[in-house]
Amino acid sequence: MSKILVTGGAGFIGSHIVDRYLALGHDVIVVDNLATGARENVNPGARFFPLDVCAPDFARLILQERPEVINHHAAQTMVRVSTEQPAYDAQVNVLGILNLLQAAARAGVRKMIFASSGGTVYGTCRCLPISETEPFAPESPYGISKAAGEHYLRYYAANGGPCYTVLRYANIIGPRDTVSSEHVITVFIHRLLAGQPPVIHWDGEQAKDYLYVDDAVEANVLALDHGDNQAYNIGSGRPISVNAIYRLLVEITGIRIPAEHGPKRAGDVRLFYFDCSKAARELGWQPQVPFEEAVARTVAWYRARCDSGAAIRVSAKD
Ligand SMILES: NC(=O)c1ccc[n+]([C@@H]2O[C@H](COP(=O)([O-])OP(=O)(O)OC[C@H]3O[C@@H](n4cnc5c(N)ncnc54)[C@H](O)[C@@H]3O)[C@@H](O)[C@H]2O)c1
Repeated sequence: MSKILVTGGAGFIGSHIVDRYLALGHDVIVVDNLATGARENVNPGARFFPLDVCAPDFARLILQERPEVINHHAAQTMVRVSTEQPAYDAQVNVLGILNLLQAAARAGVRKMIFASSGGTVYGTCRCLPISETEPFAPESPYGISKAAGEHYLRYYAANGGPCYTVLRYANIIGPRDTVSSEHVITVFIHRLLAGQPPVIHWDGEQAKDYLYVDDAVEANVLALDHGDNQAYNIGSGRPISVNAIYRLLVEITGIRIPAEHGPKRAGDVRLFYFDCSKAARELGWQPQVPFEEAVARTVAWYRARCDSGAAIRVSAKD
């Protein structure tokens, strides 16, 4: 059993990681300032500290608790917000991880696990599927801040700080995502269940790599003991178009509302999917949940929330 501090443990992916670590018998501490996360997501088996990762109190907590592992999922997560407020993005994503790493090095933390973003650190790639050897060429402040986080991890690992495993996620889907994340599947489910037409931008044939949250969580379990000082793409390796998502959701929900169409948006990418063979070789990780099953489980979760009278959370303030 390890003592593990999970930042962002009130958020979508982080809260699932907390659930799994607790189920495996670990002692789990959650730090989250609830900027986009929700208190109801935090497993009662974890100790919860409502702190900002940039705050001196957070550094003090690390020194007091001396966790063996810190799993860093707290972040400003949206590309759009990062373009509108690049200083805020850098404050949370760059100064936050620096505050964390300085304290972690002093506290003797053994290992960092970091949620990076495969969809943004590489930029527009010509070589598909994208492997970890692709150089960084981020095209948004969010991609830049995630790449900076990876550089700081390498710097601290080489200079007396903890070792690390970087997980460069594809687009993660599943229960507890919020509509305000602007992730296409969550937004489409929300609109269909609310009786509103989803909006397909561009021609809908643009395609990305989607992964079910439980598969992302499993990579965080394997990274506890494997993959030191390495970065891994964590995706399905299968591109799915927006049109295919819409058709599948209509089939699963039985709600036949025609989609509306909109123009291509700035930053929309034509085709993006990952080579995840390094994670298979070195972590023993492979996605287990097929896309269709992932979407069906996600829809079932949102439906159950609607049926129980619980609103679908649109943002942290709901
Ligand atoms: N969801 C995806 O598809 C995806 C893809 C690539 C990378 N990621 C990364 O995975 C991580 C989790 O993303 P998510 O989708 O679960 O988003 P999320 O918004 O649900 O989770 C982020 C959590 O961080 C917390 N947080 C934000 N700022 C904070 C601060 N200053 N101090 C403390 N807590 C703070 C939020 O309250 C929230 O609970 C993020 O680092 C994100 O960049 C997510």
